Amino acid sequence: MRNHQWAAAVIALTCGAGAASAAPPPATGPIPDRQVAQRVEALLARMTLEEKVGQLTQVAGGLFPGAKPEEAIRKGGAGSVLWLNDTRKFNELQKVAVEESRLKIPVLFGLDVIHGYRTIFPVPLAMAASWDPSVHERAADVAAREARAAGIHWTFAPMVDIARDARWGRIVEGAGEDPYLGSAMAAAQVRGFQGPYLGAPDHVLACAKHFGAYGAAEGGRDYDPVYVPEGRLRNVYFPPFQAAVKAGVGSFMSAYMDLNDVPAGGNRWLLTDVLRKEWGFPGFVVSDAMGVGNLVTMGFAKDRADAARRALGAGLDMEMASGVFPEHLARLVKEGAVPAAQLDDAVRRVLAVKVRMGLFETPYADETRVASVLADPAHRAEARLAAQRSMVLLRNEKKTLPLAKTVASLAVIGPLADSRADTEGSWMVFGHVPAAVTVLEGLRAKLPAAKIAHAPGPEIRRRVPSMFDQFMPGPKKPPQTPEQAEAAFQQAVETAKGADVVIAVMGELANMSGEAASRASLDLPGRQEELLKALVALGKPVVLVLLNGRPLSINWAAENVPAILEAWQPGTEGGNAVADVLFGDAVPGGKLPVTFPRSAGHAPLYYAHNLTHSPEGSPMYNVRYWDGAPTPLFPFGHGLSYTSFSFANLKVATPQVKAGAPATVTVDLTNTGSVAGDEVVQLYVHQKSGSDSRPVRELKGFRRVSLAPGETQAVTFTLGPEQLRYWSTSQGKWVQDAAAFDVWVGSDSTANLHAELQVVP
Ligand code: NOJ
Repeated sequence: MRNHQWAAAVIALTCGAGAASAAPPPATGPIPDRQVAQRVEALLARMTLEEKVGQLTQVAGGLFPGAKPEEAIRKGGAGSVLWLNDTRKFNELQKVAVEESRLKIPVLFGLDVIHGYRTIFPVPLAMAASWDPSVHERAADVAAREARAAGIHWTFAPMVDIARDARWGRIVEGAGEDPYLGSAMAAAQVRGFQGPYLGAPDHVLACAKHFGAYGAAEGGRDYDPVYVPEGRLRNVYFPPFQAAVKAGVGSFMSAYMDLNDVPAGGNRWLLTDVLRKEWGFPGFVVSDAMGVGNLVTMGFAKDRADAARRALGAGLDMEMASGVFPEHLARLVKEGAVPAAQLDDAVRRVLAVKVRMGLFETPYADETRVASVLADPAHRAEARLAAQRSMVLLRNEKKTLPLAKTVASLAVIGPLADSRADTEGSWMVFGHVPAAVTVLEGLRAKLPAAKIAHAPGPEIRRRVPSMFDQFMPGPKKPPQTPEQAEAAFQQAVETAKGADVVIAVMGELANMSGEAASRASLDLPGRQEELLKALVALGKPVVLVLLNGRPLSINWAAENVPAILEAWQPGTEGGNAVADVLFGDAVPGGKLPVTFPRSAGHAPLYYAHNLTHSPEGSPMYNVRYWDGAPTPLFPFGHGLSYTSFSFANLKVATPQVKAGAPATVTVDLTNTGSVAGDEVVQLYVHQKSGSDSRPVRELKGFRRVSLAPGETQAVTFTLGPEQLRYWSTSQGKWVQDAAAFDVWVGSDSTANLHAELQVVP
């Protein structure tokens, strides 16, 4: 049973029978709704006001400076703990909860397990580049197994924010710019983290964040206000959130920023009208860190009491770390300023999740199991496969790649070539020691007999340090002096001179994307492009391997470096996977989940924009900017292979359908090259007229297909009301217009194999 049915049951049942520690969850399925409701009501009936507020309070764990979670837990004043990653400490705290607190309600331990716990997978943007939801689901499944073994019950993932502005640092944490691809990836991650049902053994509670439209921050500046009209919210920013609800996600996190002048954490339309009433979300909503207190800082609430009242009233159930609820909520209820029923409903939602998760029966982590789960070799194998599948071959002139394994010598150049932390990418759990196989190590393992030299070149560094640097293990290096940087530059060029092939590993440090990591430029940071030019000037084959968490405007490289592999931040097995792809043991098949602009000044740039009176191809189009082409450097969906593909026989089986009826689209895909490889078949539509103007193209279907040389496969898509309806601004509701549609199928968002579909009333 999908868990959106359980909230109704929780609320409907008020009988006091059954205790919170009744029968354990059946290993083969969810706890029946009726039982959950009975247990929740039995507990609620025994709770004081303060204990209720306690369940809505999340406190910082002991690894955070000054935190004393045990005191709050003992008094029943903390329902959840975050920012702690220590199995023994989890068990100690849990013992306080289940043995020393009056009602013995277990604590829910939450942490950001974003793209892996011990085994690190490619960053989420990279996983989206696989265009393979099953690979993302398995990655989330592995992350869940490891995290749960270590004692974590709840991950603050997936981040399903659509991001169309590459300057925004958190673009790395999501699936890119497209709602259709983003929805598939959101659902896949929820399934992977939570397993077949909420409370499935070895899985964790997932959290869809940050609701909503956080990715549309003005200027790409993290936390800045968002102004997005309702139509665009519903057509672009909301679909991945709703997909997460449909996949059964158990929790949501509200975003930090103002959404159309109302902070997301105090936004009743968002958290109650849309999320609960329209979508039927049964789980609970947590604020972002300090989010409730921020309602005062942001000039919305007049004081902390007002913030507590308005956040709860908006539909926010649990407060993360700002301590506003315990300060004020009980008093506000006593004074009648907050309805008791509102508080009870929020508590019900949190308790129901705890019951479903089986915490009352299995509150502790098994400390003897942790090491073996974390060392499972199958996890590393999954990570290597995921990294291979996420890489995007951006350019490959004269078949520079794959390289021959007979190459005698390689120079591996660049500041990221031998960096474990930057190969893993942003968002590691507390205490994580970077352990990735670097590109240098991967190449050495692949070619044990070759001469492989390495020089990092000048360092790259953020001009303004990251607030997360303090959590990175190891000593902090002082910045290079200009003289040291110059010496490193010269040494890199000298090293390259002695090699047959140069592999330049460049891009961004892990801390250059992620939270509070936006940029005003999308160029290669530091002196990397200058070094790249010096390497290319040597006249040797140069391959650029990019490690980065956002699109970069690599204009010079895109015209002058013969081969460019977008490897993103590929995780624990990243270096091995890069070596696999460079030497043809894996054939690249990833596609860009986000447009690469030619300049940061072009942001936001995305393929699904509306038409104008001077569309592409018309004389006025190219004067969008008088100082350069307005087109993408690499379009959404782009990615090459070592083989070639052709598309043919595009057919819409019923070229005319009634609104509400499905149309079937088929196309034949043939591998016309000489090696096996993958193509992502992409289906785009354009509605030619209607109640509103519609985007020039929208992705409405995709499939990643593996074909042997010479093989042909027919690929079928369905275009039904789900794909063709949209939220109409002029009508103020969802519509499916009777209209003509262009249909294109191909290998990226510029596909030109065309057919037509007519929807009639
Ligand atoms: C702030 C971030 O915005 C959010 O994504 C994260 O889950 C919380 N901090 C908790 O670490």
